[in-house]
Amino acid sequence: MGPKTLLEAHLTQIRDGGQVSVVGSMNADYTVTAERFPQPGETIQGGPMSVLPGGKSGNQAASAARLGATVRLFGALGSDANAEFLLGKLADAGVGTGSIRRVAGPSGTTMITVDSHGENTIVYSPGSNAAVDAGYIRSVSDDLLRSAVLGLCLESPMGAVREAARICHEHGIPVLLNDSPFVPSLPTDLVANTDILLVNEHETAQLLRIAEPEDGDWASADWNAIAGRLHRFGYGKAVVTLGARGSMVIDGDRVAPVSAIRVDAVDATGCGDAFMGTILAGLAAGLSLEDSASLASCVSAYAATGYGAQASYGSAEQIADFIGQKAR
Ligand code: RIB
Repeated sequence: MGPKTLLEAHLTQIRDGGQVSVVGSMNADYTVTAERFPQPGETIQGGPMSVLPGGKSGNQAASAARLGATVRLFGALGSDANAEFLLGKLADAGVGTGSIRRVAGPSGTTMITVDSHGENTIVYSPGSNAAVDAGYIRSVSDDLLRSAVLGLCLESPMGAVREAARICHEHGIPVLLNDSPFVPSLPTDLVANTDILLVNEHETAQLLRIAEPEDGDWASADWNAIAGRLHRFGYGKAVVTLGARGSMVIDGDRVAPVSAIRVDAVDATGCGDAFMGTILAGLAAGLSLEDSASLASCVSAYAATGYGAQASYGSAEQIADFIGQKAR
């Protein structure tokens, strides 16, 4: 079977999969491109400013929905114009938004600068995302318990993240935690209720207090040893992303490298969220963690070729065509 045919088979499976639930953040991303990042205290000229739909959780949900998964997003939006803008974009992507709470005040926002290499810097202002608390999570627990899988990140208050993980894990619903924005020391109950950890290589080094390889060649690191350390830390399953070098999937005793798809990246914003959203969609459809990560490599590579986070995500058909062209 060729790569495009295999990918299409997985995408078909995703359309028939169970509910993906994502609890967390939505942000209006105030984004500007610049040749380079400014130094502290320096003013430089950038390109036109765009307001784009973002927020790690909103992005993860949108990515899964664009692939055809059934997705519900749980979180809070404010009373400003950005709230309607973000709701509209999520609905356009096919995300179920009926459980999203509305509170007075501004929605979440970020200030993003993208340089000429496609790298970014992000400053996050939580706004209404701060209103996602444990009480809200309990109020939507019936909806959460319909999930085939739950996705979490750390742009929401820790109390809400812990409660969502507890409710789902106790009912046998796999919990995928993206430790981002990175917190090195997580509450023990959150670690215990996390079924799969998603982190990048630098976060892994900080989490496990190990040195980064001197040559930066993480792909050649001793991944069996790293997997052992993650297990002892409490994570039986993990996906460690390695940027352009792909990712490592740790599933119990099995450690498998997953290749990246090479592209000319214009903007890395939201690529990690596209990766996570795809893993959620894959798991909800019964794909293995490794197959889900392979698919996620394709989806996040596509996202790197466009500007913005959700704005750069492809549909199942667009991703399949993109991979078909790459395979030629
Ligand atoms: O991961 C990218 C996202 O991080 C952006 O969309 C921004 O909103 C921040 O949350």
